[in-house]
Amino acid sequence: MKMNLANIKKAKKLLYKKECIAIPTETVYGLAGNAYSDQACQKIYKLKKRPKNNPLIVHYLNAKRLKKDCYLNDDFIKLYKKFCPGPITFILKLKRFSKISRVITNKKSTLAVRFPRHSVTRKLLRILEFPLAAPSANPSSRISAVTSADVKEDFGKKIKYVLEGGKSSFGIESTIVDLINKPQVLRLGGLNVSSIRKTLRKKISINNKPSKISSPGQFKVHYSPGLPIRLNAKNIRKDEAYILIRKKKINKSNYFFLSKKGNLKEAAKNLYTTLRKIKKKKFSSIAVSKIPDRGYGKTINDRLLRASRFNEKIT
Ligand code: TXA
Ligand code: MG
Repeated sequence: MKMNLANIKKAKKLLYKKECIAIPTETVYGLAGNAYSDQACQKIYKLKKRPKNNPLIVHYLNAKRLKKDCYLNDDFIKLYKKFCPGPITFILKLKRFSKISRVITNKKSTLAVRFPRHSVTRKLLRILEFPLAAPSANPSSRISAVTSADVKEDFGKKIKYVLEGGKSSFGIESTIVDLINKPQVLRLGGLNVSSIRKTLRKKISINNKPSKISSPGQFKVHYSPGLPIRLNAKNIRKDEAYILIRKKKINKSNYFFLSKKGNLKEAAKNLYTTLRKIKKKKFSSIAVSKIPDRGYGKTINDRLLRASRFNEKIT
């Protein structure tokens, strides 16, 4: 991705004016604003139509800058050294006198933080004097955006600027790990849980289906293309789109392959793009073949399960 400095300067200018813009990250695009400004953060909630009780992830250049706002513990330091910048989000304890806008934290004493790896956004963060609050750049409960065109499709003129960064290399959101007490994973994502376990050498529970929602990425309905989805499907109807994990010899116009050879990381990367493609083609519903429930397959299954519940009411 060629770096365009004029674009980064334009993004900077708008962010200093407390505007909300879209930024590229290696996971998905984010809807970003100054995390120290109530006004900028309010704009993010409004644009995304996001419930006010759903806190935002704050994006930092590095741990040195984060120290002003959060307490860094040993588990954090181990994971940070190994995986950052990269597709992992940490829940940490917020410092009482941090400048983080209370619009984001909504009376919580914790903060979700992340260090994106994307070179364009790192360049931007480097020249800002504040971190960026940025939820995924999609209307609440819909599919995340992995290209600037996806963002423009969803928000049109409502968004002031989309900073170009090409297609997100992971194409799926970050893994969220709560490090407040015993480490637990709240959302599966771009970094496999086994890598976190190996680094911390600790048991790590996966708590992405809690009775009490602490992370609304855990909301039952999410990532929805707005069509019914049937999982583990074997018999496909003619008017249905069929998602397969691996390319087949027979290629029908309603078949969509997530990967050539069944590589789960590649499949995760192509998931949202495929769902968007299907949505545009006016199928009546989506059938998905069985996807192995291991590694990135677990993340894909998690997203598809939530997307398949689009008829249910969001609570
Ligand atoms: O890859 C990503 O994480 C992308 C890119 C743009 O960084 N961002 C993203 O943000 O997916 P969002 O807002 O769509 O998802 C963040 C999740 C939400 O489910 C939110 O509830 C949860 O993080 N979260 C934020 N603050 C939290 C906190 N203090 N405790 C628990 N969960 C939190
Ligand atoms: Mg999201």
